[in-house]
Amino acid sequence: MYLERLNQKLSNPKFLLKKEWLIQNVEFKLKMIDLELSEKYQRTVMQKVEHRIKKPESIARKLVKKGYKVSFENASAKLNDIVGIRVVCLYSDDVYKIAELMKKQKDFTLIKEKDYIKNPKKSGYQSLHLIMDVPLTYQTTTECQRVELQIRTVAMDFWAGVDNHICYKKKPEEMRKAEEDLKNYSAVISKIDEQMLELRKKVEKM
Ligand code: GTP
Ligand code: MG
Repeated sequence: MYLERLNQKLSNPKFLLKKEWLIQNVEFKLKMIDLELSEKYQRTVMQKVEHRIKKPESIARKLVKKGYKVSFENASAKLNDIVGIRVVCLYSDDVYKIAELMKKQKDFTLIKEKDYIKNPKKSGYQSLHLIMDVPLTYQTTTECQRVELQIRTVAMDFWAGVDNHICYKKKPEEMRKAEEDLKNYSAVISKIDEQMLELRKKVEKM
């Protein structure tokens, strides 16, 4: 019943159009940043940019998990990641270069920055998240559209992909050892990221 109503509102054409606009707007900035950085450093910077609009079922699940009633209003007010955009790059210093340039965009407002690279999550998850507000003006009204931007390296993205796959598959009791292994691999991945960065710097000096 609640889910049905939520479903309806989330498939409203105006709602979807606004989210499409938001994605295009953020991806435009990202393309400009990619061009700027690739020109400056004479190498590829972004490996891929992906986006997704959260499915009604996962919006409902997350609202319940956070202790809110399932409604469109709560989804809009309480969730930051109805629209999510992910940028994957080769090197960990690029993550911060991209984030800095995103934060410089005069029309975007940074709501929250979560640095799970400097402070990985308990699971071992690493990524830099920027929660941003993007103003959308139509006629005389301006309304903010929220986006969660995840910026990470290929190695961090690999880890998150495996983590997602494994967590969805196994039952909680069987998970403990797998979780511990994954956490250890997360440390291996930061080490590799560090070594790749050092290697790049060495080669740049040659
Ligand atoms: P949820 O974790 O989704 O409840 O969101 P939150 O509001 O607590 O924010 P958080 O920064 O913890 O997570 C935001 C997003 O980061 C999630 O929706 C996932 O895409 C990603 N994420 C966070 N933790 C993990 C993790 O342990 N593994 C993986 N694979 N992804 C994670
Ligand atoms: Mg979380």
